[in-house]
Amino acid sequence: MTQQSAETLTVRDNRTGKEYDVPITDGTIKAADLGQIKAGDDAPGLAVYDPGFVNTASCRSAVTYIDGDKGILEYRGYPIEQLAEKSNFLEVAYLLVHGALPTKAEYDAWVHEITFHTFVHENVKEFMQGFRYDAHPMGMLMASVGALSTFYPDARNISDSENRHMQIVRMIAKMPTLGAWSFRHAQGKPWVYPDNELSYTANFLSMLFKMSEQKFDADERLVKALDVLFILHADHEQNASTNAVRSVGSTQVDPYSAVAAGVGALFGPLHGGANEAVLRMLKRIGSKENIPDFIKGVKDGNERLMGFGHRVYKNYDPRAKIIKKSAEDVFEVTGTNPLLDIALELEKIALEDEYFVKRKLYPNVDFYSGLIYEAFQFPPEMFTVLFAIGRTPGWLAQWLELVQDKEQKIARPKQIYTGDRTLDFVPASERWA
Ligand code: CMC
Repeated sequence: MTQQSAETLTVRDNRTGKEYDVPITDGTIKAADLGQIKAGDDAPGLAVYDPGFVNTASCRSAVTYIDGDKGILEYRGYPIEQLAEKSNFLEVAYLLVHGALPTKAEYDAWVHEITFHTFVHENVKEFMQGFRYDAHPMGMLMASVGALSTFYPDARNISDSENRHMQIVRMIAKMPTLGAWSFRHAQGKPWVYPDNELSYTANFLSMLFKMSEQKFDADERLVKALDVLFILHADHEQNASTNAVRSVGSTQVDPYSAVAAGVGALFGPLHGGANEAVLRMLKRIGSKENIPDFIKGVKDGNERLMGFGHRVYKNYDPRAKIIKKSAEDVFEVTGTNPLLDIALELEKIALEDEYFVKRKLYPNVDFYSGLIYEAFQFPPEMFTVLFAIGRTPGWLAQWLELVQDKEQKIARPKQIYTGDRTLDFVPASERWA
């Protein structure tokens, strides 16, 4: 909601003694308004230096609300706790993309559309089979999502709303197929085609784990738990991968290319790759007795406690709370994961330790999700793929908002140039003589 108020910020430039009134809207000033502040007529305008965008709003968005201090997360105004308990992933995907919950007819049509676009062109399968036997599934996913743009060249027509809708449906539908095939590839197992009689999440499990049986019959509790995990990961406002999608999307490229950039950003260990890193960390710690030594290493700055801390949450990540509960449901089916005891103890110690308390470092979404994924028998390399499947509707909702936002421009930050100037070039033949 835009706040039309007469609020202003008065800036006094001590270099020139001049004062400027800059309008404040929604608690922000426009960085461009500072451009009028100059040390002299020919001097460059004042700019904002903000590596990592720690205090810069890049857009107006009505998709996701987060209050990091209070630990609140809402999609389109609905609290994450209610969506996780009472909705399902495809309904949440509809909500994110369309901005409102569906009627029965809209929901049925949406589920039907997504279900009947789960297959990919056979050529996709062929080129995916060309990856090395040990290719990381995130690399495979990133490349194959990007490659979809070559199968749907019409996707470049981003100004047409029906066309945009088609690509959104295709992408949400095909991500599990691409993700599951990346998994089967590493295992050297035959690839399983989608089963359109199954729900979105049950079909994904079928493509992952089906062998010679006629129909893959996943335990409903596991289907529900994975569906909840997808919901929890579905959007998280302007995180690094969404920013990548928006940044690349701002060039008006097709949405497959923009989402492929998001998958790349998500792969990093400080973002979606943290769930993989958490599991490796827990395995490395090995037993509760080794925790104090590990914590000392973290406090000495030798390493990070993965799955802890967040740019926005300075309180317990609400998603981590729900995941902790889901973990119990999953372990009921699969038996407990011995690493859970290490994670619980680690959390307990960290939450009482001054280092973590002072910096407001709490468990984030990735702290417990890896334990659940491992109970499903996913190797760590697959964890971020699961995150990417869940995040796809969020990326697309944000992309849709971007391409319809008249205030948006191509993302092109400024820099502070620190290099040499006007050097005379000496040809190699003279330099090396
Ligand atoms: N372990 C130890 N110290 C930490 C950690 C951590 N996990 N996270 C932050 N700190 C310290 C950091 O060293 C710094 O201390 P000091 O002020 O003494 O220099 C202080 O806390 C602030 O950290 P920061 O790096 O400036 O914070 P940031 O907002 O730039 O980084 C973060 C946020 C998530 C990248 C970071 O907390 C981190 O690296 N966490 C571990 C990786 C992780 O779990 N990532 C998943 C994030 S949630 C899922 C997602 O969105 O992808």
